[in-house]
Amino acid sequence: MSQLFSPLALGPLSLSNRIVVAPMCQYSAEEGCTSDWHAQHLGTLAQSGAGLLIVEATAVEPRGRITWGDVGLYDDATEAALKATVTSLRRWSPMPLGIQLAHAGRKASTHKPWDHGGAAIAPEGEHGWQTVSSTARPFNEGDPAPQALDQAGIDAIVQAFVDSAVRAHRLGFDLIELHGAHGYLLHQFLSPLSNDRQDAYGGTLENRLRFPLQVFHAVRAAVPASVAVGMRISASDWVEGGWDVAQSVALAQALEARGCSYLHVSSGGLDPRQQIKPEDGYQVPFASDIKATLSTMPVIAVGLITEPRHAERIVAEGKADAVALARGLLYDPRWPWHAAAELGATVHASPQYLRCQPRSAKGLFG
Ligand SMILES: Cc1cc2nc3c(=O)[nH]c(=O)nc-3n(C[C@H](O)[C@H](O)[C@H](O)COP(=O)(O)O)c2cc1C
Repeated sequence: MSQLFSPLALGPLSLSNRIVVAPMCQYSAEEGCTSDWHAQHLGTLAQSGAGLLIVEATAVEPRGRITWGDVGLYDDATEAALKATVTSLRRWSPMPLGIQLAHAGRKASTHKPWDHGGAAIAPEGEHGWQTVSSTARPFNEGDPAPQALDQAGIDAIVQAFVDSAVRAHRLGFDLIELHGAHGYLLHQFLSPLSNDRQDAYGGTLENRLRFPLQVFHAVRAAVPASVAVGMRISASDWVEGGWDVAQSVALAQALEARGCSYLHVSSGGLDPRQQIKPEDGYQVPFASDIKATLSTMPVIAVGLITEPRHAERIVAEGKADAVALARGLLYDPRWPWHAAAELGATVHASPQYLRCQPRSAKGLFG
């Protein structure tokens, strides 16, 4: 019996298997609005047989977009565009849908990754704007400096997360993932490398946890208990003296105590000095170490998990409750079908596709 293809609950949400489509920015929105690209891209992934699809980092305010092509959910126009995308997905797929709500902080206002190497754009440049962060230090030396948020600015961003979460619920999303990873705004408050504030939001670990926990608390309170609310974190900055597993454990335990539905464990992205050795499953030990300190909150592992038997082992050995894939699913959007065939499990397929079942995998489409 495959454990990867066994059901899992993320708080109130039941998944039919433990394969998650990781959030992936497409930089293909217009003024924050999803386009026909998103319907095609997400439509393909919604036919993948995974247990959950998480829509890309979606900005809670225009300043919180990484690039001018990022998706947003901050006004009626962006909500209407996303509604069309979600309606199309729901029409043809029963897959649970999540959305990652994000604010890029000092990593906002950049070119798309395939233009000018994704370099920062100055506030006065075309498609640029003034960024904000925990402090006035830029990500890269020499980049335009962000403005340090004051209390009113922090409160406004907490409210922006709440407003976007309410819109996400109205659109029928089953799950909201708060983006606390990859050096974006929540992570900028968490890490001592990007937060040396002198007020209640900086200095001690307790103070650095304050803003992300406020965002979690406010979003959790703003949507009904039927909506799962989780967080993605970077478990390590991969820089001496930075955010690390011990601090991640403190955050994870605080989130569990506050009713967080799950933790999604990634790493890096906060500091250009990071030394990462990407190899198969390189972030799984982080997920496993954090999971060992929790009582029931499920943990999702991600990062170079590409082989079905590897994914099966991660779950079967209790290192994580689920695995997420990003690049592997872009390369092979039917990865869950192929994994089910290899592991002797069954997977959902739409009736239009049932005739493709290979003879060698009879009973694949349960
Ligand atoms: C095209 C692309 C876009 C991504 N966008 C996001 C994103 O919106 N939010 C996020 O948390 N991670 C994002 N990531 C990171 C992935 O979710 C994932 O954590 C990372 O790629 C490692 O998993 P993998 O080895 O299966 O690709 C992105 C990765 C790729 C390749």
